[in-house]
Amino acid sequence: MKIGLIGLGAIGSMHFNNVRNGKVPNCEIAAVCDEKGVDEKKFPSCKAYVKVEDILADRSVETLIVATPSFNHYTLAKQCLESGKNVLVEKPAALTSLEAADISAIARRCAKVCGIMLNQRTTPLYARIKKLVSSGELGKINRASWFMTNWYRPQIYFSSSNWRGTWKGEAGGALINQSIHNIDIFAWVFGMPSSLRAWCKFGKYHNIEVEDEATAYLNYDNGMSATFATCTGEYPGTNRLEIAADKGFIVAENDTLKITKFPSLRDYTLNTKYVFGTPEPSETVEKFDSKGGQHAEVLKNFADAVSGNLKDFAFDISEGYNSVCLANAMLMSAWTNADVKFPFNDNAYAKMLAEKTAGSKFREKVDSDFIIEFTKSFR
Ligand SMILES: NC(=O)c1ccc[n+]([C@@H]2O[C@H](COP(=O)([O-])OP(=O)(O)OC[C@H]3O[C@@H](n4cnc5c(N)ncnc54)[C@H](O)[C@@H]3O)[C@@H](O)[C@H]2O)c1
Repeated sequence: MKIGLIGLGAIGSMHFNNVRNGKVPNCEIAAVCDEKGVDEKKFPSCKAYVKVEDILADRSVETLIVATPSFNHYTLAKQCLESGKNVLVEKPAALTSLEAADISAIARRCAKVCGIMLNQRTTPLYARIKKLVSSGELGKINRASWFMTNWYRPQIYFSSSNWRGTWKGEAGGALINQSIHNIDIFAWVFGMPSSLRAWCKFGKYHNIEVEDEATAYLNYDNGMSATFATCTGEYPGTNRLEIAADKGFIVAENDTLKITKFPSLRDYTLNTKYVFGTPEPSETVEKFDSKGGQHAEVLKNFADAVSGNLKDFAFDISEGYNSVCLANAMLMSAWTNADVKFPFNDNAYAKMLAEKTAGSKFREKVDSDFIIEFTKSFR
């Protein structure tokens, strides 16, 4: 399969190398496009374009990857689909849930495959948690709590680009950029809440407009309560997910999953005669050294979906809606100092964001003295 790649920055370069190094079978990057121009030493042996219109006009590539900054995912995905191409969009699917839903509708209308890079769904630890919860073996989930505060970023991360950390460039910070992965896993495992309340701090640790700290409380119709916290300004932070269920208690911290199981805790709580009694648990600890297939696995899945060799495409663009919706809802709650209810009012949020964006500009002076060690960016 001949693939075209739009956007040759940090993540675009990684996708290029993954395909070139054979990590995505039967695929080659046949054309690349970057508005800054293409360094042919870094991206050899493929057609090079500067304008998106030109790569879209290239009939030898029917499938594209959009790896540009978040603010143009929506426009570029739409352009690709309406030009009759299949497209895989980097996360977040779009800046607003309104646009994320619209890309799905456009993909259906154009009858093209549209995928979303939700690479952390391939992380074996998260896949295991998803299976544990959805199999029902933990019984009713009472509470979940995720402290995902190890997304530390120094100021140069923002100031080395004109778009990061601006309302105009990414419509948020810790929520829609870094933690979008964890918010996606949260919604994938537990589903969507009925309401949430969130508090954000804007530019608390960095010279940026957007949030670099957020704490949210989520309420579920099935009685589950949940908390989610994230931060890009503290170090080392932690990545700890707790799930308190009727038949088990789970702690996932870093790469370890501790599973404590017992028969129904509710039965025990209501019936034991022991005043200070506790159930008799069985405990297992699972270690997850591997991060799994990540971006290459999503690309492989996408290529299989384009080839028609896949019944259920796990990374369809519609899967990108919930995380954008939750990240938007958390911001809306912080801005309005009020609860936000679901189904989410996509239109109301888009209007609020438009007001923020109107007063926001891309960074004029970009710091050019920086060093990228991209693999260190993944958590
Ligand atoms: N899935 C992941 O693990 C992951 C990791 C990092 C970044 N991302 C996402 O990937 C996207 C890109 O991030 P990055 O860090 O690579 O950004 P970047 O700024 O390093 O690179 C973006 C590139 O896109 C080019 N570009 C911008 N607009 C363009 C246009 N209209 N046509 C052609 N080229 C254009 C820029 O010139 C630049 O080279 C972001 O949305 C980010 O959220 C995902």
